[in-house]
Amino acid sequence: MELWIATSNQGKLNEFKMLLNRLPLQIHAQNELPVFSPRPENGDSFLANARIKTKALKSVQNKHWVLGEDSGLMVAGLNNLPGVHSARYAGPHASDAENNAKLLKMMAIRQIADRKAQFVSQVVVFSPEGEEFLFDGSLEGHIATSAKGQAGFGYDHIFIPSGQSLTLSELGLAKKNQISHRANAITKMIEALGPRISS
Ligand code: IMP
Repeated sequence: MELWIATSNQGKLNEFKMLLNRLPLQIHAQNELPVFSPRPENGDSFLANARIKTKALKSVQNKHWVLGEDSGLMVAGLNNLPGVHSARYAGPHASDAENNAKLLKMMAIRQIADRKAQFVSQVVVFSPEGEEFLFDGSLEGHIATSAKGQAGFGYDHIFIPSGQSLTLSELGLAKKNQISHRANAITKMIEALGPRISS
């Protein structure tokens, strides 16, 4: 069975491939298509944005299973920002390093003592018949005082999961894939759809 993933984020794609590798699936991503124009992610929730990306890919791959995800970081002391703006917090084409630097700067300027944060993942799956399935996951933790580690992407370098003393980036991908928001959501998906999507 083919599963098409609606993402152009290589870090996310690697994680999805690892998380789904116990299913006998051929995994493809939108950037394998010669022509594909993603739609603007202008929703005001993770679910709205996950639907936008998944439906855009489904409109050109409607014979296969299609999976899309919107995810982000919510920082308690910043009124849950960057939230749905996580990918572009420091500007429309911001790099991960720029987003991390802006977040640490905002926490310093505003002297925010409450460093609690959570990652959220909202997954949307469409079957070839057009049924929609929703799965979510989260990972609690707090924001480090500086960026540390080489692995991962996004805010992995400044996020310390609850019960750990290292950033997600320092912990590495194998550990991240046991505990992450994305892993939680995909575990739920495999429980609900695994046999059907593999047949
Ligand atoms: P999306 O591709 O529009 O869902 O953007 C999600 C953004 O949220 C990413 O670009 C990252 O900045 C952030 N993010 C989501 N999941 C993770 C993660 O697992 N680690 C680090 N940052 C993440």
